[in-house]
Amino acid sequence: MTARNPTDVAAQYATDAHLRTRMLTHERYTVGPELEPAVDAALALTGTERVLDVGCGPGGFLGRLRQQGHTGPLTGADLSPGMVATAQAAHPDVVYVQASADALPVVDASVDVLTARHMLYHVPSVPDALREFRRVLRPGGRFLAVTNTDGYMAQLWALTDEAARSEPSLTALSRTRGDFATAFSEVNGEAWVREAFGNVHVTLTDSALVFTEAAPVLAYIESLMAWQRLGEGQQERGRAVLTRLLEDRLAAGPWRVSKRMALLSAAHT
Ligand SMILES: C[S@@+](CC[C@H](N)C(=O)[O-])C[C@H]1O[C@@H](n2cnc3c(N)ncnc32)[C@H](O)[C@@H]1O
Repeated sequence: MTARNPTDVAAQYATDAHLRTRMLTHERYTVGPELEPAVDAALALTGTERVLDVGCGPGGFLGRLRQQGHTGPLTGADLSPGMVATAQAAHPDVVYVQASADALPVVDASVDVLTARHMLYHVPSVPDALREFRRVLRPGGRFLAVTNTDGYMAQLWALTDEAARSEPSLTALSRTRGDFATAFSEVNGEAWVREAFGNVHVTLTDSALVFTEAAPVLAYIESLMAWQRLGEGQQERGRAVLTRLLEDRLAAGPWRVSKRMALLSAAHT
C-alpha cells in the first residue's frame, strides 16, 4: 500500500473516523513515554509564536496549545476538507484552512514555528513540501516533523504478514505495513530536512502498545488503508484469521507492539 496514493489518502482522511480509532488506541494502550511531552520539549514555545501545523488532522495539537494558554496566532492546514471542518468545529479559537503542504496559502516568512506531524509520508514530494515550509517560515523560525521510524510497530506487521501467508484470499494483508518508512522516516527524513534547511536534529522516543485482548488490535488494523481495499468476504476471513493468530499470541500474556517515533527539528537560518 503506498502512503502517497492520492485516492487512498483522500479516502482514509475524508473524515477523522479511521484516524480517531488509532488515536484512541494510542491513548488507551500506550506504555512508556507519551509523544506530546517530547514535542513540547523540542518546541520549547513561549506562548506568543505564530504556529502553523500542516496536516493538522482533527486539530488536537493546536487546540491543546490554545487551551494551555498559547496567545500567538495558531493556524492548522490540512488537505482534507472533512478534517478541516472537524478541527474548526472542535477548536473555534484556532484558524483552520484547507490546503496542500506544497501550496500553502500563507505569506512568505510569516510563521515562527511550523510543525508537520505524521504527515510527510503522505505528500507527493517531500522536497517540494519542505521548500514550501521554508518559504513560509521567517529567518530564525523553527521546523519540527514527527514521523514513524523504520521498525515502527514491527510486531503488528508480522501479524498481518502471517495472516496474508495463511491463505491466498488474504494475500493483500501483506500490504498493511505500507511504504511509510520509505516515504518519510528518520533515515531519509534526516537527509531531506538537512538538505532543505542546512541543519537537522533528530531525537527518538521509545514506547509500546500493550494489548491484553484481540478487539482493539483488530479495530486498529481495520482502520488502515490496506484493509479498506479488501472485499467484504475477505474482511470476514481476515477477521477470523487475525483473531486466531492474536489469541495464540495473547495466550502467552500481554502482547507488546513497539513504537519508536522520530522528531526531526531544524532552524531556518
Ligand atoms: C496521519 S494524519 C496526522 C494528523 C495529525 N497531524 C496528527 O498527528 O494526529 C495525516 C494528515 O495529513 C493530511 N494530509 C495528507 N496529505 C496532505 C497534504 N499533501 N497536505 C496537507 N495535508 C495532508 C491528511 O488529510 C491527514 O489529516
